[in-house]
Amino acid sequence: MRARPAAVTYDAGTGVLLLDTPRTSYAAYVGRADDIPIHTYWGPPITAEDAAHLATSTAERLAAEWECFRSPANRHEEYPLDGGLQFGRAALSVEFPGSVRAVEWRLARHEITAEPGRQELTLWFEARHQELTVALHYRVHDDSDVIDRWVVVRNDSATEAVDVHRLDSAAWVTPEQPRHRMTHLTGRWAAETQLRRTDLADGHFVLESRRGITSHHANPWFAIDDGTATEESGRVYSATLHWSGSWRLLAQRELDEPAQVLFGWGHEGFGPRRLEPGEVLQTPVSSGLFSADGFGAMSHAWHEYALRHVLPNGGEQRPVLFNSWEATGFDVDEAGQLALARKAADLGCELFVLDDGWFGRRSDDRAGLGDWWVNTDRFPGGLKPLIDEVHALGMGFGLWIEPEMVNPDSDLYRAHPEWTYHHAGREPHTMRHQLVLNLARPDVAEWVFGELDALLSANDIQFVKWDMNRPFADTGWPERPDRQGRLWLDHVTGVYGVIDALRRKHPGVAFEACSGGGGRVDFGIMARTDQFWPSDNTDALDRRYIQHGFSHLYPVRTMSCWVTDVPAFINKRRVPLTYRFHVAMAGVLGIGGDLNAWTAEETEEARRLIAQYKEIRHIVQHGRLHRLGEPGRSASAVQYVTADLSESAVLVYQEAQQYDSAPAPIRLRGLAPEGRYRLTGGAVLSGALLMNHGITPRLTGDYASTLIRLELLA
Ligand code: DGJ
Repeated sequence: MRARPAAVTYDAGTGVLLLDTPRTSYAAYVGRADDIPIHTYWGPPITAEDAAHLATSTAERLAAEWECFRSPANRHEEYPLDGGLQFGRAALSVEFPGSVRAVEWRLARHEITAEPGRQELTLWFEARHQELTVALHYRVHDDSDVIDRWVVVRNDSATEAVDVHRLDSAAWVTPEQPRHRMTHLTGRWAAETQLRRTDLADGHFVLESRRGITSHHANPWFAIDDGTATEESGRVYSATLHWSGSWRLLAQRELDEPAQVLFGWGHEGFGPRRLEPGEVLQTPVSSGLFSADGFGAMSHAWHEYALRHVLPNGGEQRPVLFNSWEATGFDVDEAGQLALARKAADLGCELFVLDDGWFGRRSDDRAGLGDWWVNTDRFPGGLKPLIDEVHALGMGFGLWIEPEMVNPDSDLYRAHPEWTYHHAGREPHTMRHQLVLNLARPDVAEWVFGELDALLSANDIQFVKWDMNRPFADTGWPERPDRQGRLWLDHVTGVYGVIDALRRKHPGVAFEACSGGGGRVDFGIMARTDQFWPSDNTDALDRRYIQHGFSHLYPVRTMSCWVTDVPAFINKRRVPLTYRFHVAMAGVLGIGGDLNAWTAEETEEARRLIAQYKEIRHIVQHGRLHRLGEPGRSASAVQYVTADLSESAVLVYQEAQQYDSAPAPIRLRGLAPEGRYRLTGGAVLSGALLMNHGITPRLTGDYASTLIRLELLA
């Protein structure tokens, strides 16, 4: 397929809009009579002539198909509104004075802007009967097929406020086809990013988070195909949302209609968000992608987009870290952490992270959150002696925090009980013995920034693990009923504001996004952090499934993975150390075991594998990921290939051997067919053979695994 620079065009005469990305086109038109923007095309490249033809033929077809009881636009709208003859769910629903919600719009103007590498189109609409402006934004990139969309609304009234009940970032329309199979990520705590596939029925399919965080239970992403796409072939439409709070994805279709997916912040009924006279509100971005070559190519495009356009430092290599949580739990002190740090450094770790338990009066999860002073019973000289020693050992130092939380048993809560979300006269629900701080309050957000800024200014810290261990409940601010409807949104922008300000002031500090594992994994938080903690579940077998789902959207470079002890605290499973390593080496390797309990042989093995990981990490963290099969099915593998195709690393796993069978050959992908590759062990084989016949790993027994490296010979 040809690759070309991105371009946006809008023909004011015909109302035809065409977005070109290197390998795709996206087209729509603004209806002549009603100014309703109608989607016409998303797929491989088409011409401006094609887009004009589609506009005329779609308008004719929709008019001809007109029938009573059905919307003339029937799910083809670029952005459905409340009212008129639009009977589906609305992407924009605003309540005006007098309880009127119906909006009819008129295109006021369009604007095209270009910056090096990207172009933007904005369509400015005005409500015909109210004082409201709505801008639909589209952005395309020269180096990606991902299309970014977002919406801005402005209340143009000088006197009257309006209530925004729904303001989605985009409506994504996928073509009419016999089947609409939706692939999505479901889960729960310790079982995040589980891949699911389901056919969309006529009606609605909703995924959402009502928890104030992105959630473990659903991840803001979907992919729709016609039921035939595979890892290597087929047309796949997918989209995500750059947002870290509650959200909703609603796929709607009725008989004979395309699927239209509304995607935006705020769960159903979260608000309303009052828009004061003159106020402007901008949604987060929703990004969409068409991929002509199956789920594998879809993931490559998402990964590359994330590394280039979302992650702050996408090009950097992440260090091998040690984290104290599974080794010591809350039982942390200077001597114990120093002992672990020495062992971690000896293994080859590059970053030592002190997890929960170092602050306030924290000895378990019942006390201390909010008191971000160092517990001097545990660290008599503060953190400095430990940090200095960690640095002397050649490692960076990282610290765990949970800034959005407070335990009722804390100095902070005793001083400021009103800083938590609560409803007047009601006992708030505590989960994990903690309450959520109201970061929608500017004074609370400022206080959080001040505490963390002081911590980072007083200590030489290179890494912060930002945790968030419970969902919202009792989400009220009784003193400010006027702000009630916007808490869910303002909390997230409050968190973003604090992290952004910290990053500006402490540019040398990297952040890990964690929320009781993978409760806050999304492109919104990715834009201001450096890696994710995808799950508290470190059982290597479960982790393979979690990583498999995760990899569909999120790049390996962001996926923190620890080797921990057996039996795993989840499932109580015992699997060999090498298998544990090979699973963790598929992402950003970390160690989370109690190194004091590791035998000399285990320590030696770990040292060897960490050294090996460092040799392949540029391939793993920055190469192209190919999923070769699925976890749990005989032998399967993950393969990584550098951009120049000169190096590849393949991690092969066999979870269970049956009938004494040896694994079937595993066909590799993405190599230079005519290239000659030297494999671990010395064999030299062509890329063609490796991709068409495959490698036959010698694996015996359960939880067997191996790493195979390939190097292109000159
Ligand atoms: C949940 C995190 O996911 C864990 O890794 C650990 O940091 C605990 N919180 C600490 O309370």
